[in-house]
Amino acid sequence: MGDSAAAGSAVRLRPGTIADIPAFRALGEAVVPVTYGPIDAAYAQRMLDEWWIPEIFEKSLERNTHLVAERDGEVVALANLGRLSRSYRAFPHVTDPHVTGDREVMWKLYVHPDHQGLGIGSRLLAEVEALVEGDELWLEVVDGNDQAYDFYLSRGFVEVERVSDGRWPDDVWLRKSLGRTGR
Ligand SMILES: CC(C)(COP(=O)(O)OP(=O)(O)OC[C@H]1O[C@@H](n2cnc3c(N)ncnc32)[C@H](O)[C@@H]1OP(=O)(O)O)[C@@H](O)C(=O)NCCC(=O)NCCS
Repeated sequence: MGDSAAAGSAVRLRPGTIADIPAFRALGEAVVPVTYGPIDAAYAQRMLDEWWIPEIFEKSLERNTHLVAERDGEVVALANLGRLSRSYRAFPHVTDPHVTGDREVMWKLYVHPDHQGLGIGSRLLAEVEALVEGDELWLEVVDGNDQAYDFYLSRGFVEVERVSDGRWPDDVWLRKSLGRTGR
């Protein structure tokens, strides 16, 4: 990982741990409402209430690999990677994730609004890609999050499917082939 300069001060990537949970929550409060509020304010609140809470981070830290970006000693971004088959969520649209349909998924990539556009998200994505064991990285984008959707498409992801539950915004699944076949 190591240091690099982004707009003047050093950004350091390191593994995330249970000690980071309060910083994860603070990051969520800074980034979730501005990202999802314009799409669906109730959904943004639900995300914070149901997913950006200590109990969920504890579960996630047991099952997934977390990476944080620190700037001047402060957590300014978070990414994580894990397998669909180990998620506590259900994915009825994926046929038997334990057998043929498992996916390596980047569940989160969030950069604090004050630190976006400085290359931190790209660095975290590159680190996550380096951790993928198979040939594909998957992720979900909330329908309407055009900034993130465009970011991922410009970095080689393609849209695979849209999953609707009829109540909340659709999840758009993207996949990137990492070109490692035959490794
Ligand atoms: C999408 C996101 C992860 C990108 O991380 P980042 O550190 O801002 O991105 P980088 O600086 O590495 O790259 C900037 C690129 O993203 C685009 N971008 C996305 N959001 C941007 C922002 N707020 N400010 C500037 N550029 C932004 C730029 O167009 C730029 O594209 P280019 O390099 O192809 O010209 C980050 O903006 C973010 O956390 N957004 C809000 C949360 C979110 O939607 N996360 C994804 C959930 S699936």
